[in-house]
This record gives sequence, C-alpha cells and structure tokens, in this order.
Amino acid sequence: MHKDVKKILVSEEEIIQRCKELGEEIKKDYEKKNELPLVVGLLKGSVPFLAELVKHLDMDICYEFMDVSSYEGTESIGDVKVNLDLRSSVKGVPVLLVEDIIDTGRTVQEVKRLLKHKGASEVRVVSLLDKPDRRVVDIEADYVGFKVPNEFVIGFGLDYNQKYRNLPYVGVLKDECYQ
Ligand code: IMP
Ligand code: MG
Repeated sequence: MHKDVKKILVSEEEIIQRCKELGEEIKKDYEKKNELPLVVGLLKGSVPFLAELVKHLDMDICYEFMDVSSYEGTESIGDVKVNLDLRSSVKGVPVLLVEDIIDTGRTVQEVKRLLKHKGASEVRVVSLLDKPDRRVVDIEADYVGFKVPNEFVIGFGLDYNQKYRNLPYVGVLKDECYQ
C-alpha cells in the first residue's frame, strides 16, 4: 500500500470483478434496444476505469474523451468549460458517459446537458464511484461501481493535486497529506 494511504476502500480485484459485471449488464441493456453506444470518458479521472470497463464490454464500441472543467467563466456552455471536445459528432448517437465519481453531481448534470444540446439521442452514465451524501443536484448514474462514504478518495483515476491517479485501488488519503 502507498505510504500516504490511510485505508483501501476498494481493491483492484473488486474493481475488476465489478467491471465484468457492469460490462455484462450494459451490453445486455444496449442489445435489448438494438443500439451501440459511443463511450465518452471524462478526462482525466475516468481513464483507468474506462480502460478496465471496455475490456468487458463485448460489443463493437468506439470511445472518445472530453475534458471539462466546471464553473469557469469564458467559453462556457451552461456551467461547463470544454477544454477538449469530442472528435466525432454525437448527433443522433446514444452516449455512454464514463466518470470516476459522482460527488455533488454538477459535472455529470452539465455534461449530460451539453451532450444533449449537441444532439445525442440519449446519455447514460456509468460511474466507478458514487458519493450520494454529497449530492446537491438531482442526478443519479445509470450504472454505479461502488458507493463510497463521504470521505475524499484517491486512486484508480482519482487524484489529490493530480497525484495518486495511478494507484491500482481506491483508498483514503492520510490526513497529514492534505496541505
Ligand atoms: P461533482 O461535479 O461534484 O459531482 O464532482 C465530480 C468531480 O469532482 C469528479 O469527477 C472528481 O474529479 C472530483 N471529485 C469529487 N470527489 C472526489 C474525491 O473524493 N476524490 C477525488 N476527486 C473527487
Ligand atoms: Mg473528474
């Protein structure tokens, strides 16, 4: 375990197992509707989760990435500033949005709004983690890996000051590591 980690909340094995389950569930749901989603990951936090999930999504999907930051002034559509946009059009396309964690819910709410504005036929959300206690807007993911308590978590894509994203598990940072 990394020296800055207080405890592990979700192990690598648990994440891989859950990605298998989610992959099967998601595949079934889209097959029922006879649709193929465009998988859209939000940078940078979703990268490890997206990489694991798509291995278990046994369909001919394509994936793209977007980088957004919330609540900044210029170039904003709604409350989201787009730092890196999609390369392909989502007009008429069902989108599966991949996120690392849903906290207040603002990011996912705004990105869903943006993708619908761009013409996506539907936007579903899959999030590795969900912190329901922190929610300030009425939004839920369609698929959740794990619910976590109201603690700041790191690893498997999640960072503190851009660090710890590469840890293969989700853990809680030691108090003395916060500046
Ligand atoms: P929301 O818009 O409040 O739902 O926040 C979502 C974003 O905040 C996530 O995509 C993360 O980048 C970040 N975030 C929220 N909670 C945590 C956490 O516990 N650890 C690391 N990043 C977090
Ligand atoms: Mg994020």
